[in-house]
Amino acid sequence: MKLPELKIGTKIAKVPIVQGGMAIRLSTARLAAAVANEGGIGLIAASGMSHEELRYEIRLARSLTSGIIGINIMVAARDFAGVVKTAIKEGIDLIVAGAGFSRDMFGYGKESGTPIVPIVSSVKLAKISERLGATAIVVEGKEAGGHLGTSTSVRELIPGIRAAVKIPVIAAGGVLSGQDIVDFIKMGANGVQMGSRFAASAESNAAPALKEYYLKSKPEDIVVIHSPVGLPGRAVRTPFSARVMEGPVPPKVCDACLKACKHNFCIIRALTRAQQGDVETGLVFTGEYMPRIKKILSVHEIFSQLKREAAAAQ
Ligand SMILES: Cc1cc2nc3c(=O)[nH]c(=O)nc-3n(C[C@H](O)[C@H](O)[C@H](O)COP(=O)(O)O)c2cc1C
Repeated sequence: MKLPELKIGTKIAKVPIVQGGMAIRLSTARLAAAVANEGGIGLIAASGMSHEELRYEIRLARSLTSGIIGINIMVAARDFAGVVKTAIKEGIDLIVAGAGFSRDMFGYGKESGTPIVPIVSSVKLAKISERLGATAIVVEGKEAGGHLGTSTSVRELIPGIRAAVKIPVIAAGGVLSGQDIVDFIKMGANGVQMGSRFAASAESNAAPALKEYYLKSKPEDIVVIHSPVGLPGRAVRTPFSARVMEGPVPPKVCDACLKACKHNFCIIRALTRAQQGDVETGLVFTGEYMPRIKKILSVHEIFSQLKREAAAAQ
């Protein structure tokens, strides 16, 4: 199948692949721009960044590509509104918002016409999003990495949500091959969002030790932890995640970065340690199917492979 374009508002991606936002600092300008240069949509993970850092990353991405660049931000972040407004002022192409839901966010993009794309995991939230003005939705299933809003497979979620809304639907969770993309397009999705494959790419901003750790992961190493955000989170087992699964590790210092934090550990610091390559004391977010990834590829190689596989897919 020749993959269709993905239209979000006035933006048209030649290839219907969104690179999922991955905090903390796994998906920065370099990865997002590489994806945009291939005709997909690249997302800078803004969670945990100051406004200054975010502005820098957006400007850097713009200097590397004329393609479509968005940001991803956690609704649970205390500074959610400030981050969204900063990105809009920088002329960002779209805002993708996960880990929670905000009715207010749809108003933020109205004046500038910036598409607001919430991540949802139910027919109910998909319909509410459409009614409130979402330009598109990402539908994330249980296979996804990071915070999870459901225990249902995305393959089960898509048909019901497709039937319930008219706006573009982007399927996320466990997409690794061109056949997966074709499957979702045939189910009525307009595109896919992929995280794990890009976390383990050459342009990912993860330290080499983290990328190696991803490649070594086995299905039995993939665990679900309780995130301080109040949601389950999927991770590769590390000594740190094993420890927090036993009980809280209350943070000694706190930046009050979340609107409501469970304080069972500091997620920003734990994700940052992993991003820097500390796979002992870091929290290594991952999708369920990371163990199927055997090689670090460049974004160009990933897109070439996906397009080849999609062309051959039934
Ligand atoms: C390391 C990692 C970090 C992630 N961080 C975020 C995040 O900050 N915000 C978000 O909305 N989703 C986050 N996700 C989810 C991805 O954007 C994407 O939707 C998901 O990983 C798709 O599933 P896949 O990994 O099977 O492709 C993260 C995923 C991974 C693997």
